[in-house]
Amino acid sequence: MPSRRQFLNAAAVSAGGLMLSSPTAFSFAASADAAEGPMATRPIPRTSERLPVIGMGSSGSFEVGDSAADRDPLRDVLKRFFAGGATLIDTAPSYGRAENVIGDLLAEGGWRERTFLATKLGATGRDAGQAQFAESLRKLKTDKVELLQVHNLVDWKTQLALIDDLKRQGKARYSGITHYTESGQDALAEAVQATKPDFLQINYSVISRGAEQRLFPMAQDLGVAVLINRAFDDGRLFSQVKGRELPPWAADAGITSWAQAFLKFALSHPAVTAVIPATGKPDRQSDNLLAGHGPTLTAAQRQSLIDMFA
Ligand SMILES: NC(=O)c1ccc[n+]([C@@H]2O[C@H](COP(=O)([O-])OP(=O)(O)OC[C@H]3O[C@@H](n4cnc5c(N)ncnc54)[C@H](OP(=O)(O)O)[C@@H]3O)[C@@H](O)[C@H]2O)c1
Repeated sequence: MPSRRQFLNAAAVSAGGLMLSSPTAFSFAASADAAEGPMATRPIPRTSERLPVIGMGSSGSFEVGDSAADRDPLRDVLKRFFAGGATLIDTAPSYGRAENVIGDLLAEGGWRERTFLATKLGATGRDAGQAQFAESLRKLKTDKVELLQVHNLVDWKTQLALIDDLKRQGKARYSGITHYTESGQDALAEAVQATKPDFLQINYSVISRGAEQRLFPMAQDLGVAVLINRAFDDGRLFSQVKGRELPPWAADAGITSWAQAFLKFALSHPAVTAVIPATGKPDRQSDNLLAGHGPTLTAAQRQSLIDMFA
């Protein structure tokens, strides 16, 4: 739970006092539980609709079966997510049974209306894309999604055209395109430049900063929202900090864990709209959600983290 000091820091950021040179001004999402305080939000450039800065992914963590042992922790992960004022859930048809599990749990918890639901097309050819999306809707127990993204650039020209048609039909509100490696970033930049989707999704962490070179400035120029995957480098960053103290300035940034430091690192780049860490563990979800409160990192704090992992 954020302290009163964290909340006041956040209010100072909102007032502009601690903002980076960012068009992505903070304001706050209503929290289901006032005691937990409001999470920061940032605007989607094309519409100014605001998104809470911490979302969640589902690859691995939501690829489970039907048993209570599998599902109970994930129900709690979602309960904490919504109670913390978060809304954005990212999934994909290729994430095993994740779409089924998310569809079931959102329906069961009555949370669908509060969700900014993002899934993907990873198909080749228009017919295959349409069939895949129909299956996603069935599994997710919904008739539309908020964001539909081309997965890893697969057949991106055809699939983005399909997504634009689905937007016109009211089946998706925003278009997007994703990748997750440093080596995929040039091709992603070319696709973004050519098609100007509403969102791009890319990897970015303190040890994988390639997106700063081309994708982030491009997104800012074109008004494309940016979602960050792999802010923990798929969990690898945690093995690098085992037994390591937090930086001496952590408390000033409202940081009480390494997870929050890594998430705030991503959020402190002005091009970034939201970050989507994945966990199947309720306490880790609570930890991750705290990164949506208080200030992001100053330029000096960012550099200090970069130096620690260089
Ligand atoms: N091409 C694409 O479109 C693409 C590619 C990659 C990822 N994504 C999306 O982005 C999401 C995030 O990426 P990712 O899952 O690859 O990697 P990530 O979020 O960088 O890391 C996930 C790992 O971090 C661990 N973790 C999470 N919170 C933690 C915490 N507070 N403390 C310690 N460990 C923690 C998780 O373990 P536990 O589950 O055991 O907690 C998991 O092993 C994906 O789930 C997916 O939705 C999209």
